[in-house]
Parts: sequence; C-alpha cells; structure tokens
Amino acid sequence: MSEQEIKVPDLGGADEVEIIEIIVSEGDSVAEEDPILTVESDKASVELPAPAAGKITKITVKVGDKVKEGDVIGMLSASGDAGGSDDAEEDKSEEKAEEKSEARSEDSKPAPKKKKSGGSRTEVVKVPSLDGFDDVPVIEINVSEGDTVGEDDPLVTVESDKATMEIPSPYAGKVGKILVKEGDKLSEGSDLLEMTIEDDGEDEEEAADSGDSAKAESQASKPEKKDSKPEAAPQPQGSTYEPPAPGTKVHAGPAVRKLARELGADLTRVKGSGPKGRIIKDDVHAYVKSQLQQAQQGGGVAVGSGIPGVKLPDFSQFGEIEREGMSRMMAATATNMQRSWLNVPHVTQFDDADITEMEAFRKGQKAAGEKRGVKMTPLPFLLKACAAALAELPQFNVSLDMERKEVVRKKYIHIGIAVDTPHGLMVPVIRDVDQKGLWELAAESAELAQKARDKQLKPAEMQGACFTITSLGGIGGTAFTPIVNTPEVAILGVSKASMKPVWDGKEFQPRLMLPLSLSYDHRAVNGADAARFTNLLTQLLGDIRTLLL
Ligand code: COA
Repeated sequence: MSEQEIKVPDLGGADEVEIIEIIVSEGDSVAEEDPILTVESDKASVELPAPAAGKITKITVKVGDKVKEGDVIGMLSASGDAGGSDDAEEDKSEEKAEEKSEARSEDSKPAPKKKKSGGSRTEVVKVPSLDGFDDVPVIEINVSEGDTVGEDDPLVTVESDKATMEIPSPYAGKVGKILVKEGDKLSEGSDLLEMTIEDDGEDEEEAADSGDSAKAESQASKPEKKDSKPEAAPQPQGSTYEPPAPGTKVHAGPAVRKLARELGADLTRVKGSGPKGRIIKDDVHAYVKSQLQQAQQGGGVAVGSGIPGVKLPDFSQFGEIEREGMSRMMAATATNMQRSWLNVPHVTQFDDADITEMEAFRKGQKAAGEKRGVKMTPLPFLLKACAAALAELPQFNVSLDMERKEVVRKKYIHIGIAVDTPHGLMVPVIRDVDQKGLWELAAESAELAQKARDKQLKPAEMQGACFTITSLGGIGGTAFTPIVNTPEVAILGVSKASMKPVWDGKEFQPRLMLPLSLSYDHRAVNGADAARFTNLLTQLLGDIRTLLL
C-alpha cells in the first residue's frame, strides 16, 4: 500500500469550482473512479473521481471551499486493487470530456439563425458544443415562454450519465417559442427555443455586449421564473401529501440523482440542505427514512398526513376470520375518501324541502314516462335545482388550487351522481345540466346509472363534475354527512322523503318533506352561503315552477 495525494483533475478550462458535497468520509474504502466529492461551476456540477482504489486516509477540504486543478483535496492509501468495474477507463474518459463540456468557455456559444423584425430580431437558440456528448436528455426547462432572461441565464438543464449541465442563454432577451420538452434528447446544434432580442438601434455586436445591463433588468423583472418555485413547493414531512408544482426545480448533482433513482425518491419533494438549497445525499437518505417511518406509523395508509395510523390487532385471537384482497375499485375509493377527508375541512348543512307539490307533479308524469320509456324519479328535479343554485351561487362551482393560491371558477355546470353498484360506488357525470330538460335528465341519469352497474362507463363519463348529488332517498335514512368529492367543493346528500306535520301559521299540515344534507369545503364556502344554497334548493323544490324562471 502506498499513500498518495488526491488532486483536483483537469477541469476542462474552468478556473475555480466550489465544493458542494463531500461524498466519502475518512476511512472509507473506494474503488478507482468512485466519486469522492462534487464540485460546481457556474454552469454545471461534476463529481471528482478517486484516482485509484484504496482507503481515504484524509480529507483536507470542506463544503464551500473553492478549488482548482492540481489542488490537493485529501490523501488515499492505494491498495493497488482496481476495485472498480471494467467500465472504469471508459467512464473516466467520458467524465473528462464532460468536465470539459461543463467548463466550456464563452466562445463556444452557438451561431444562431436570425429572423429580423423591425427594432427587434428573433433568434433560434441552438444547443452549443457538448464536447462529444450526444442525445443528452433534458431534465428541466428553466424558463417559460414570455420570460425575460439575461445573457448566461440558464435556459434548460440536461443530464448525462455523470453530470448535469445548464445550457446558458447566449443573449439577453425575451423567450419565445420553446422548441423542446423535458425528456427530449439534445445534441450540439439542436434547436432549443426562439428568443426575441431588442436591437435598440445598436448593431448586432453592441446588442450582444449589452447583456449585463439587460441581465440586471431581467433579474428584477422576472418574479414568475421557475427558480422561485422550490420554496413554494410543499414538503411532504408533516404536511398534507400534495403533488409538486409542475416545473419545480431540483438542485442536485448526478450522484444524488442516481441515488434518488435507486431509492425511488422523488427529488421534487426533498428539501435541500446544501449550499443554495442544493440537495445532497444525506437529504435523500433523511427523506426516505422519514417516508418509511410515516408509512410504518400510519400502517401504510396515511402517509404524509402526520396522523397516526390504526394498528390492527390479531383478530383471529377473538374468533374465526378470513381475509380477501380489496378490489381495485374499493382500494381506489378508500384512497379518494381518505384523501378528501384529510384535505378538506368538512361542514354539513341540513335542511328539509317541502316536495308535496313536486311529488304530485312527478307522479302525474307516470303515463307520459311509460310512453317515453323513461321513469321520472326525484333525481332530475334535484339535478335541475342544484344547477340553478350553482348558477346563482357560483362560489360553489369552483375548485381550489392551494399550490398556486388560486380559485378555479368553472363556467360550465356538470353534476356527478353517486350510483350504488354491486362492485362499489361509481360517480358518472351529467354534462351541462343547466341546458337540459327534466325528461332528458331522467333518461341520461338512468342510462348512466345502468352503465355504472354494468361496468360500462368510460373514463370520460366519470370526469369533469363541478358538484355531486348522492341520493339515498330510495333506500332510507333521515340525514347523513357525505364526503366532498374533491376537487369539487360541495356535495348534496338526499335522504328519504317522509310525511311530516308542518305548521302553516294556523295549523299543522301533512307535508312530504325531503331531507337535504349539503357537505362543503369550508375553505371555499362559508356557512352563510351554505345556508343560502340549501335555502334556495328548498324554494326551488318547494315550487318547481321557479325552476323555469
Ligand atoms: N325519497 C323517497 N323516495 C325516493 C327518493 C327520496 N329522496 N329518491 C328516490 N325515491 C324513490 C323513487 O321515486 C323510486 O320509487 P318508485 O319506484 O316508487 O317511483 C325509488 O325510490 C327508487 O328510485 P331509484 O331507482 O333509486 O332512482 P333515483 O333516480 O332516485 O336514484 C340513483 C338513482 C342512481 C341515484 C340510485 O339508484 C342510487 O344508486 N342511489 C345510491 C347512491 C349512493 O349509494 N350514495 C351513497 C354514496 S356514499
């Protein structure tokens, strides 16, 4: 065994790079070419490999240090055993080439195609030299159409086997059409995006030289840039499980990305503790550990909710049992119900509608229904009344985008109907309820309910609802608290109508009363509006002529 210095290798022209992660510890055994630390230049991060197989005896640098080619970063007691794979030599040459590509100089900027137009010109920005790398996948698009960028601002990030590289903007200007998407493979000369560059009366060289001032300006005027998203992106630890924002930026080196891929960790959900919020390997390990702990505590159910799960006892100690797997539909319904219950602060508003006259009218339609081959049940009246209430109180016809802190208002009225089937609950959707008549709604709801029972519903027939009606009226009960079918914000439960004595100011009258239970998302809807909604329903159902108004 001989002790040797570990030196920073050729950085392909980059002067100084910052150490952003130390991957090994003193005492660790490494194979030749194993990554020992990660450095980052302005444009890319790269792993520096062990020069030989052996034991790391000393590390003389720390995270944040700046190093350049030839600097000693530690000591290695070489074992003389190559230890690595046969691919090591090949990898090494690839890595060298890559280091060069990361540290490429300014003069490697592409010669763009130009389309002149008045005081501005449009350039098609192309992929610069990738120093021998071809077909490198895009892992992130750092800009959006319409963004103002400065010269050298990163446009897209690509990732080869060993390193991530940001392709910088060769100009200051406004991003036009983006010609690539995540996952596309790029090579030198590939079209990247169109960019509009203001000429301002200068000649082209002057315009290119004006990058710095445009950069400063663009930095002040680009609050929408995707770079600002990581802080807004939810972290799963201790919060409700939410998908990350599309385009959430991940700052991580290739080794970390590789580790995340191996462990199945979604890096957009991992909080980085490295410099500038960079994700390091410890962060990935901590994230995976926390997910496993939550899964264990939650019995694998309430992951991310922070709510302790229900531990199951051994039921067989109490008597005979048998187990059977859940159907896919049951498992999906369970997940949806739990997701809604955990995410939505539910409140339920109750009311009774006097449907004495409505029922008299409905029953009077029996012969007409037989002629049409359609049965008129209370459901079409409920659909019509709910559509009118959604139009009158549009705060019920919304979804909440908590990620972007926006309310999505819908200009259409599609209503889902919960259907009880032998294989589970299904919710087909009737579109444009406000534009349909009672017979049409009766026919369509009967047809969709039958399709649900026959497992014939297409996915499109179960999507797009603004609101749901769940009617247990044909079965029984006086009231219940339905669970909102997220991302809708309200659901109407209907129980069995029954004759009740109702005081008319002089005496009690026997009236047919229909119990209504409106559950709503209290983030979107306040209690007074919920009372207005059920109030309106009782008026509309109490005198169905008002549905025509
Ligand atoms: N009060 C009293 N009777 C009612 C009623 C109510 N609120 N709603 C319906 N009925 C009557 C109907 O008039 C009909 O009686 P009739 O044959 O004497 O005319 C009978 O109950 C059966 O009606 P139904 O076939 O259920 O038709 P519908 O149009 O009212 O309901 C569905 C259709 C699809 C909603 C219904 O079949 C269904 O599946 N309901 C269950 C939904 C569910 O499981 N929800 C729970 C989700 S957690």
